[in-house]
Amino acid sequence: MNSLWIRLSPLRRHYLPLGVDDDGYHDIPSPLRKRRRLVVALAALVAVSLLFNVLSLVKLSRSSSLQARPLDDFQNLDTSPLIRVQSSSSNGYNANINAIVTTLFSDSYAPAVATLGHSLRKVNTTARLIALYFPEKVSPSALCLAAASGFQPVAVSRIAPPHNGKGIHDHFLDQFTKLSLWSLENEGINALVYVDADTLVLRNFDELFELPYVFAAAPDVWEDRRGMTLEFNAGVLFLRTSMKTYQRMLDVLPTTRFPLFYAEQAFLNQYFSGRTLTLPPVYNANIVTKKKYPELWRSMWEGKEVRTIHYTVVKPFLGPKMSGIGVGEVDGRVKEVKESESGRYSEEVEMWGKMWVETREMYPKIREECIRGTTVKYSGVLLT
Ligand SMILES: *[C@@H]1O[C@H](CO)[C@@H](O)[C@H](O)[C@H]1NC(C)=O
Repeated sequence: MNSLWIRLSPLRRHYLPLGVDDDGYHDIPSPLRKRRRLVVALAALVAVSLLFNVLSLVKLSRSSSLQARPLDDFQNLDTSPLIRVQSSSSNGYNANINAIVTTLFSDSYAPAVATLGHSLRKVNTTARLIALYFPEKVSPSALCLAAASGFQPVAVSRIAPPHNGKGIHDHFLDQFTKLSLWSLENEGINALVYVDADTLVLRNFDELFELPYVFAAAPDVWEDRRGMTLEFNAGVLFLRTSMKTYQRMLDVLPTTRFPLFYAEQAFLNQYFSGRTLTLPPVYNANIVTKKKYPELWRSMWEGKEVRTIHYTVVKPFLGPKMSGIGVGEVDGRVKEVKESESGRYSEEVEMWGKMWVETREMYPKIREECIRGTTVKYSGVLLT
């Protein structure tokens, strides 16, 4: 008892485990013992650092295989010229050959498409508004709502994901249908700006139609260490239509190597790798920028430069778990989503909410035709 107390006493500078010394003989280590301890400590340090290095290498290889850089695996996919020679010098703002296109692949995005259409009307775009939709998946009432503010619905067939969808994120399985954008040459469209349905347009971007390039997009932004990347986000794209490009994409899709998880966005990054004109982030202002790069976000708004805001991490028009909600539930949902993420995006969500209220007030068709008298199923929720 007594000796234990002595060993634990802070006054004893050289504690040795119980049972090692009975008489305190080892209390004052010899220089040899000291050196041995030093060697053991150094060896332990080396072992720990080795382990740490191995672990970081494993982690690094994992994360880099998830986001293999398109340029690291260059495959020479897009072989068309970077710049399309214009047949007429003044076709830039021609409403008939320019379009702003979105997609409606399920009923749940109908309020978003209607709101986006209204936002485009507000900025007086001169381009045609087209919404690509799946006739077999979108109900008549949802289509009516989506088209109420000006989008012209154009039916498309689904483009199946490669490898039977294996390895692709569930939410993105329909997204390869976006490749149909290039086929809109058949609709008489020369140039188009594609905008995801979860965007709002706040400022006219018709200047994009003047670009001589065939393809342009803004950098992607992630909350995590990746931050703003060299790869683009496929939520806003400028492109010149081309049946040839469309056919080439379909031809190479099954054999192209790209991170499948990120679906069409990763494929397009691979297809256009080394050939993309990078747009400033204000063309696709991903709200996550507010969290990741608050200074950049502030400057984008102060300069009133934001053309398109992209609701990536919070979606005011969807229910929890990305489910569809009835039209009557949207206002309530906006209130809830404003509080989510500790209210970080409440201003931006409010902006969407206001645009939605304007939309349903400005287009009485939404109440009178799309909703009243119909009991059409709408993503499992009745229109009310
Ligand atoms: C759009 O056009 C209307 C009517 O000409 C005009 O009152 C409005 O200010 C324009 N909006 C923008 C954002 O230029």
